[in-house]
Amino acid sequence: MSILDEIISLTKRRGFIFPTSEIYGGIAGFYDLGPTGVLLAKNIKDAWWNEMVQKRDNVVGLDSSIILNPKTWEASGHVTAFNDPLVECKLCHERLRVDQEDEIAQHVQKHASHGETNILWTEPRQFNLLFKTYVGPVEDSKSLAYLRGETCQGIYCNFANVLSSTRVKIPFGIAQIGKAFRNEVTPGKFLFRLREFELMELEYFVHPKDGDTTFAYWKEERLKWHISLGLSKDKLRLRQHETAERAHYAADSWDIEYDFPDWGYKELEGIANRTDYDLKTHGKWSGKDLSVVDSQTNESYIPYVIEPSVGVSRLMLALFIDGYVKEEKRTVLKLKPALAPYRVAVFPLLSNKPDLTSKAQLIYRDVKKTYSTAWDDRGNIGKRYLAQDEIGTPWCVTIDFTTLEDDTVTIRNRDTMKQDRISISKLSEYIERNI
Ligand code: GAP
Repeated sequence: MSILDEIISLTKRRGFIFPTSEIYGGIAGFYDLGPTGVLLAKNIKDAWWNEMVQKRDNVVGLDSSIILNPKTWEASGHVTAFNDPLVECKLCHERLRVDQEDEIAQHVQKHASHGETNILWTEPRQFNLLFKTYVGPVEDSKSLAYLRGETCQGIYCNFANVLSSTRVKIPFGIAQIGKAFRNEVTPGKFLFRLREFELMELEYFVHPKDGDTTFAYWKEERLKWHISLGLSKDKLRLRQHETAERAHYAADSWDIEYDFPDWGYKELEGIANRTDYDLKTHGKWSGKDLSVVDSQTNESYIPYVIEPSVGVSRLMLALFIDGYVKEEKRTVLKLKPALAPYRVAVFPLLSNKPDLTSKAQLIYRDVKKTYSTAWDDRGNIGKRYLAQDEIGTPWCVTIDFTTLEDDTVTIRNRDTMKQDRISISKLSEYIERNI
């Protein structure tokens, strides 16, 4: 079993990730977050929001619709240019992206292993990634709409609204977390390439003369943030896009890449200098003035946009891989405590002793007021530890007979497995100190 297969199995077994509508056979490119997955995703999004909005004075938030006026996507260039080059294998009719060389090579290898060496491909054709839908009861070209392929277009559409309703002025940012949809030709690699995923995007508006320095600033900031989440520094790198791989809107693009097992370095986050492309084209198409005026110099200009953009599920996959540790007798998911679905798990030592259970319940309810807390009274204590290790819970608290006498508990550290005996009243202090 490959590491990725082991991780897929763990994430299902422990309630992180389920194939969507699995009882009907699922659907490629879509996954559901289970009870622990939803907590991990929330912690990732909270960490991003805290970093990008909360701690800054000049970044505000937004939550725009998934379906926008379709002109948005014509203006942005997505209707014509949000394409991937697709080819079809003439032997088995599978469709692949020409630019995904590793997947083409795998395909060739698959046929070769059956003695089929003479693969012929169709000519590449451009395949548009926007999902289409219809708004209202009539399905025709007038009601055609798109599920958003990136969240930032809703930000550009609200640029003037944010300027007029808040006190922000250049330089400032608008941040958004929300679902995006792409009809990927070849979804796959578990959570890496999905057709529905959550994006965390910041559009940072600056004077054009500050474009390059701001771009350099965000590249470094974003790399530092990924390291602060606990991802291994030596598995992260920044890479500049070749001209041919750059999106149609970008003058310069860099990826923060993570060194995935089997696939090597792949994009984790994209950082683009989108220049004034978006505001200019939306200004033209909508007929609205999206320029700003410098209050000191009276200069009127269209701001440049610097955009760091990262997918929640792709980051989650990197965190699963980076934190996955197999030891002789257990498997541990070494997530940073701030990201772990549960900060603490509380157990009664034995489940059939009402005194222990009611005392443990009192402690559980109290800890739960402050921290995301798991309760487990099934099976033996060793199995409960193993389960929490796989979920990534940093501390397990056990209530035993001594607790009933002196109000102390054992607290076990996920990474060292060391157990301390502490007073119940010191529990929060202990957790805060060890975070
Ligand atoms: N607004 C800019 C933009 O969307 P992108 O490089 O296409 O840029 C940004 O996507 C990030 O979204 C990527 O770095 C990746 O983390 C995530 N992402 C992109 N496509 C994805 C997909 N099909 N499945 C999961 N995550 C994806």
